[in-house]
Amino acid sequence: MDTSKTNDIPVTELIRSAIEARNKAYAPYSGYLVGAAVLTNELRIYTGCNIENAAYTPSICAERTAISKAVSEGWRRFKAIAVAGSPAGEIVQYAFPCGVCRQVMREFAKDDTFLVIVAKSEQDYKVFTLKELLPEGFGPENLNP
Ligand code: THU
Repeated sequence: MDTSKTNDIPVTELIRSAIEARNKAYAPYSGYLVGAAVLTNELRIYTGCNIENAAYTPSICAERTAISKAVSEGWRRFKAIAVAGSPAGEIVQYAFPCGVCRQVMREFAKDDTFLVIVAKSEQDYKVFTLKELLPEGFGPENLNP
């Protein structure tokens, strides 16, 4: 594992938090359970799970739940997010954030260092910069050049 990108990130704790949050997922329609844990610049961790809805469109992903919790508590600067998702049972795949979640991350990732960690376990994970997952993205600075 290349640890050069994650030097100052408590990766294990972040992944553990995401996996724990996945246990709270409310996904009766898809059966796809996701947990996320976002790390603020101040090293606080906020977690979230996906929350589905009988009307489908009001459903929210785990990543946006976690970020919404942090922002609504006053934290807007983030270093990284860990995501753990898979159908019920053992986590058998890396769950990559959907496009909407990547865009929401982009809103608060003001530089190129924000990391996305997709994890199957505390030992088995991949690390990407948001820029790798959302190149040439549209962000707040485009409105205020
Ligand atoms: N989901 C997430 O929570 N995060 C993602 O980035 C991808 C998808 C959720 C939404 C829905 O509840 C279920 O996974 C299946 O799409």
